[in-house]
Amino acid sequence: MMADYDRVVGVAVLMLFLQLSISVDLVGASPQVSALFVFGDSIVDTGNNNFLNSIAKANYWPYGCDSPSKFPNGRFCNGQTVVDFLGGMLGIPAPPPFADPATTGARLSGGVSYASAAAGILDDTGRHYGDRFTLSQQVVNFETTLDQLRTMMTPANLTRYLAKSVAIMVFGSNDYINNYLMPSLYPSSFQYSPSDFGNLLLNHYARQIVALQSVGLRKFFLAGVPPLGCIPSQLATGRAPPGRCLDYVNQMLGTFNEGLRSLAGSLNRDHPGSVFVYGNTYGVVGDMLNNPPRFGFRVVNASCCGSGRNQGQITCMPMEAPCSNRNWYLFWDAYHTTEAANYVMAFRAYSGPPSDCFPINIQQMASINL
Ligand SMILES: *[C@@H]1O[C@H](CO)[C@@H](O)[C@H](O)[C@H]1NC(C)=O
Ligand SMILES: *[C@@H]1O[C@H](CO)[C@@H](O)[C@H](O)[C@H]1NC(C)=O
Repeated sequence: MMADYDRVVGVAVLMLFLQLSISVDLVGASPQVSALFVFGDSIVDTGNNNFLNSIAKANYWPYGCDSPSKFPNGRFCNGQTVVDFLGGMLGIPAPPPFADPATTGARLSGGVSYASAAAGILDDTGRHYGDRFTLSQQVVNFETTLDQLRTMMTPANLTRYLAKSVAIMVFGSNDYINNYLMPSLYPSSFQYSPSDFGNLLLNHYARQIVALQSVGLRKFFLAGVPPLGCIPSQLATGRAPPGRCLDYVNQMLGTFNEGLRSLAGSLNRDHPGSVFVYGNTYGVVGDMLNNPPRFGFRVVNASCCGSGRNQGQITCMPMEAPCSNRNWYLFWDAYHTTEAANYVMAFRAYSGPPSDCFPINIQQMASINL
């Protein structure tokens, strides 16, 4: 049953990917949401870090080599991010970065992206990369946007606008790979057991999600953490047996992912009139890792642009030639997925079954009239 579903979706996903890579710019005439507000890390950063004093920037070729302009644009990918694709499905362009001075006035009306490479749920996370908008700073930045929106709409219209908007939140990966799993720079693994650390993240995260709900956002997509023990930078540590991922890394993510899923459930119970969806990123990326051909992938244990062991020891460098068949690769660089994989994640977040999106998917959430 499950296998049949996956096979059908795999084929549909491939066909849609080919179609969408051509047509995603022709955003539909009737958007299903008023705006997208994006909170997160490099997985969904669309250029904020280009305006920050950070070494985590995707401002050089070959980043963006498959984007419409073919130029680097701050996305940590060869082409489109999950949010670009979700925007295409919802009929709204991916929102502009908060840090861009041009993101004011009418340009706020389709939403704003606060996502920042190296950012985590914890303020300390990613510190060694320089400046970044941490989760708590992103919430403050959203309030700045709200102040501007208040000057553009009546209170009743703003309430309606926010109720028809979707907040996409993608956090947690850096709290592991750029904090807990970096004992030489961060003390967290000496202070917390893996499950205590997962619960610490959940407590901080829950508080900020509730803060965003209390200022008017009503629809939330909360993405779980992918199997980080399988990304090229982790494989490159050489600590996994041949042909395997780092199981201990994947196992320590269970507390956070399962906790986030049940947090979505309890938030739905405690906040009637709001919707919280958990996205099973771990399961979706796990499917791609376990069944590469079903998604058109041929390489899932090395990056398309990187060098050293698993092309993951040194991530994609300026002017480095990427692999030529980028749709064959699950991973673009040592840390991030390719556009092809991002499409699969977006498709399943948008229209997947409850095993992908709990309790409903983004399409269903968008259609609810609050
Ligand atoms: C408020 O919404 C109504 C109905 O959608 C619209 O006609 C009106 O122009 C809006 N007013 C402002 C100030 O946004
Ligand atoms: C990646 O997996 C393939 C089999 O799919 C294997 O032949 C290759 O050695 C692996 N590469 C690395 C760097 O482990």
